[in-house]
Amino acid sequence: MKKFFVIGNPINHSLSPELHNYWLKENNINAIYEKKLMVTNDLKKLCDDIKERKIDGVNVTVPFKNIIINNLDNLTLEAKKTQSVNTIFLKNDQLIGHNTDIDGFELAVKDSKFELKDKKVLILGAGGVVSSIIFALNKMGVNEIMVSNRTKEKAENLNKLFKDIKIINWGEIPRFDMIINATSVGLSENDKIDLDFSKIQGEKLFYDIIYNPKETEFLRTGKRLGNKTENGKKMFIYQAAAAFKIWHGTQPEINEEVSKILD
Ligand code: ATR
Repeated sequence: MKKFFVIGNPINHSLSPELHNYWLKENNINAIYEKKLMVTNDLKKLCDDIKERKIDGVNVTVPFKNIIINNLDNLTLEAKKTQSVNTIFLKNDQLIGHNTDIDGFELAVKDSKFELKDKKVLILGAGGVVSSIIFALNKMGVNEIMVSNRTKEKAENLNKLFKDIKIINWGEIPRFDMIINATSVGLSENDKIDLDFSKIQGEKLFYDIIYNPKETEFLRTGKRLGNKTENGKKMFIYQAAAAFKIWHGTQPEINEEVSKILD
C-alpha cells in the first residue's frame, strides 16, 4: 500500500487526510494519507524515506514550506520563485519540490468571478503562504500588489523575492480592489485584526485564507460594509487536488461531498 503524509507543526487541525483519503477511496487507489507532527530535525530522514520509496509523497505545511528545500534535489519553477514547497514527489530518482498553493489560490479566485486584471490588491501578512499568493496574482495580471505585515521586516524580505510589490506600514489602509487576510488572525473565533476598515466602500473583494472558522471577523466586517467575501476553503481543496493529480495521475472530482468534508 502506498503511503502519503502531510507534515507540519502544529498538524492536528489539518483536514488534508480527510480530503485525500476520500479521493483515494473514490478512485480505488490502494494508498493511505496521514498527518505527521514533525520538528526540523526530522526532515532529512523523511526525505531519505521518500528517496528509498518507503514513503510515496508528502505535503508540507507551516512552518516547513521553506526550510524543507534544503533536503530536496530540485524545485519546479513555481517552488523556486516562491521559495515555498507544499508538495514533494520522486521523479527519475530525484526529490522534487513543487508548490500547488499557487494554482489553489488562482482557481479559487477565478471561481469567485471577481475580475482581477489591472486591479489593486492589498495582502495582510507575510507568512509562509504569501509568496504563493503574490506569484498567482502576478500570473492573473493585477495592476499592483501591496503587502502589509505587523513585523515590517518580514514584508521587506518578500520584497527581495518580488521586486514589484509595495510595502505598506501596518495600520495604513491604502485604496484597493481586493484585500486578502493571510495572517493567522481569525483562526480563533474571537480574533479581530486591529485595523480600521470603516472607510472601505462596497464592491471590493474581502478574501480570507482561513476556512475554519467559515466566516472570520475580517469577512464579517467586509460583508457588513457591502463587499464580496470568500474564505479559503476552495483554495485548500484546489491545492490538494493538484497534489493528488501529481501523485496519482488522476484529477479528483470536486463535488458537494468534498465540500462537506471541510464543514
Ligand atoms: P509563519 O510566519 O511562521 O510563516 P504564518 O502562520 O504563515 O506563520 O504567518 C502568520 C502571519 O500572521 C504573520 O504575517 C504574522 O505577522 P508577524 O510576522 O508580525 O508575526 C501574522 N500575525 C499573527 N498574529 C497577528 C496579529 N495579532 N496581528 C497582526 N498580524 C498577526
